[in-house]
Amino acid sequence: VTVNELRNRAQFNARSCKEVKDKYGQTENGLYYLTTASGVVYKTFCDMTTAGGNNIYGKCTVGDRWTSQQGNNANWPQGEGNWANRKTFGTVKAATDDDFKNPGYYDIEAEDMSVWHVPNNTPVNHWNLAAIMRYHTDRRFLHLYRGNLYQLFHSYPVEYNVGAHLSNNGPSIPIVDDLGDKESTKNVYGPYSGGEIEGGFISFRDINHERSATAICFGVKPKSGNVEHYCIGGCGFFHEANPLQCGDFTGFAWNGYGTHIGFSASKQTLESAVFLFYC
Ligand code: G3P
Ligand code: CA
Ligand code: CA
Repeated sequence: VTVNELRNRAQFNARSCKEVKDKYGQTENGLYYLTTASGVVYKTFCDMTTAGGNNIYGKCTVGDRWTSQQGNNANWPQGEGNWANRKTFGTVKAATDDDFKNPGYYDIEAEDMSVWHVPNNTPVNHWNLAAIMRYHTDRRFLHLYRGNLYQLFHSYPVEYNVGAHLSNNGPSIPIVDDLGDKESTKNVYGPYSGGEIEGGFISFRDINHERSATAICFGVKPKSGNVEHYCIGGCGFFHEANPLQCGDFTGFAWNGYGTHIGFSASKQTLESAVFLFYC
C-alpha cells in the first residue's frame, strides 16, 4: 500500500467511481478505493474519461472461474455460478493476468456499461492506450435488469438446460464504439462464426444448440446456435465436445489456437482480458 493509496482510502467514502468523481473531483484514470453498502472496502480501476466507470471483471487464459473449475459435468449445471453470486477473486493489478471480480459487480447500481479489451500483461497505467477495442452502451439498459449484472444473471441464469438457442437468449444491447467499429468487433471471431453473428452489440446469456448457456457475447449478437465460438463464460456442461468447449473461452479455439480460421477466434482475442465498467 503506497502513501497515495492510504490518503485516497482515508479521504474518500464512495460507492462508485462516479461518486469519487462527483463528490471528490477526481478526474484521473487509475486505482481508487470504494466502499460497498455493507462497508467492504476494495480497490478498483476507475475509468473516469469514457463515461466514468468501475472495472468489475477481467478474464485470462488460466483458471475457469467464469465457467467451471471442476470439469465438464451435466450434474454441475451452473458450474461455478460466479455470474450470479457474491464471491470475489483476483486483484486489480493482476487483472490482465488472472480472473478478477470485485464487490462492485453486485454492489453498484448502474445504468450502462463500457468494455475494454486489453492485451494480457499490460500494466494498469497503459490499459486505455493499449486496448484493442473499446465501446459502451448508452440506453440505460441496466435499469431494466435492476442495476447490474449480478441482478441480470439472476433473471437470466447461466445454467445448462434452461432453454433453447435463440428462443431463450437474454438481451442484446446496441453498443457505441470508442475504438473500433461494427466490423472489427465482429471480425475478431472466425469466418464461420462471422456468418452467425451481427456486430455492434453486447449480448447476455446466449444458449447453444446443445442447451449450454454462455454468459456474454462481446461486440456481437448471435443469429444462430454455435454461440460457444463467440460468447465467453458459461455453465458447467458443454455437451458437443467434452470437454473441449467447456471453459471461460468456451470453443474459441475450435479450429486451432488463435488460427482465426473456421470457428477459431484471433490470437489477439484469446490473449486479451475483457474489462467491464459500470457507468
Ligand atoms: O460448433 C461447431 C460445430 O457445431 C460444428 O463444427 O467443425 O463439426 O463443422 P464442425
Ligand atoms: Ca479464467
Ligand atoms: Ca456447436
